[in-house]
Amino acid sequence: MLPRGLVEKNNELYINKYSFKELQKEYGTPLYIYDKKELMTNIDIFNQYFKGKNFESQVVYASKAFLVPKMCEIISEHNWMIDAVSLGDLYIIDNSMDIKKAVFHGNNKSMEELRFAVEKEVGIIVVDNYEELITIGMLAKEYKKVVKTMFRVNPGIEAHTHSYIQTSLLSSKFGESIYDEEVLSKIMNFYVNNKQVELLGFHSHIGSQITEKDAFLKNAEVMVDFTLKMEKMYNYPIKELNLGGGFGITYTNEEVDLKEILQAFVNKLDELVASTNIKKVYIEPGRSIVGRSGMTLYTGSMIKNTFGGKKYLFVDGGMTDNIRPALYQAVYEVLNPVNLNGEKTLVDVVGKCCESGDIVSKDIKIAFSKGDPILVLSTGAYGYSMSSNYNSALKAKVILVDDNIEVISRKEELQDLMRLYK
Ligand SMILES: Cc1ncc(COP(=O)(O)O)c(C=O)c1O
Repeated sequence: MLPRGLVEKNNELYINKYSFKELQKEYGTPLYIYDKKELMTNIDIFNQYFKGKNFESQVVYASKAFLVPKMCEIISEHNWMIDAVSLGDLYIIDNSMDIKKAVFHGNNKSMEELRFAVEKEVGIIVVDNYEELITIGMLAKEYKKVVKTMFRVNPGIEAHTHSYIQTSLLSSKFGESIYDEEVLSKIMNFYVNNKQVELLGFHSHIGSQITEKDAFLKNAEVMVDFTLKMEKMYNYPIKELNLGGGFGITYTNEEVDLKEILQAFVNKLDELVASTNIKKVYIEPGRSIVGRSGMTLYTGSMIKNTFGGKKYLFVDGGMTDNIRPALYQAVYEVLNPVNLNGEKTLVDVVGKCCESGDIVSKDIKIAFSKGDPILVLSTGAYGYSMSSNYNSALKAKVILVDDNIEVISRKEELQDLMRLYK
């Protein structure tokens, strides 16, 4: 399945009216390409389908998936919020959109980060633990501000791609367990007695790349139950709920019906919150917004036939622009966009880094001639944002393609590599 802006014509792929040969020549490789049509459609799906009758919806784009100023601009235009997990994220967001639209996460926020968040009045701080809550209370006093928070809890639901399990271990490094009564009592008593730190609601995020609805529904059920329990026990009205991200996408042959998942999720939530004080529900999609919109274009240099029989297709990037195959054995669809149907060879597509694990994708059947552009689909999430300078690789250029082409991040230059040492 191709991103919505791609079309096939005479054995070749085009994005909008542009051929990949043209993009390769004009912008160089490696090159991150975002298809605006796909991106906007994904945003529209959330706007259209995450809409309840009994609650206000708020989408928070999880910027860890892909953060550049242009994304902030697009998110602002849609009146969405944006999540941040570091001072660096907050800095980019503050320079690109209204920081009051930021939701600040992290299990180990530094004093510098918390000061920045309180002073700049970041929209919501998602508190990870009791100690952090005390620090926020102190900063609220110092800056004479009312700080809006959510508290991250761990509902013990572990979502896998095709199922979920309710774990008894509850040993996540994020948040506090919904079963830890001692710590919950300290947290809730803090909120009850502190008028400068407000608890809007609880937050949970149960995993990523979840392709079936059951885990989302279970999370909603457990979290609404838990919210009502806390509200009653501590006589503290709780009006909001944040159920995190994790909506899966198609990388190769996964079947995901996002519309169906969102519809079922909203129906369940409508039912669950109907007679409660919960009036607003947040979700935090990252991958499902940008994942399929983004792709990476490389140049293939040669097919190496090894003595052992394996054939490798070498490309001019790899784990420095996409660490996911090395990090979690992620698999991708790889195409030759200028020769879709030519005679194919079975290869492992590999990068140029000094690591055997520098794999782009294994067991790919592809037609190839020296210098052809090589296209990897669905690299839009956690590709650019996880890229590195390993082997002194230069961060690749990013373009957004519609009727026109916009460079939304320039390529790193050799001089940039020396900027820390001068
Ligand atoms: C708290 C939180 N929210 C949202 C997300 C986004 O998840 P995804 O990109 O799978 O939608 C993550 C990802 O790790 C997360 O940790």
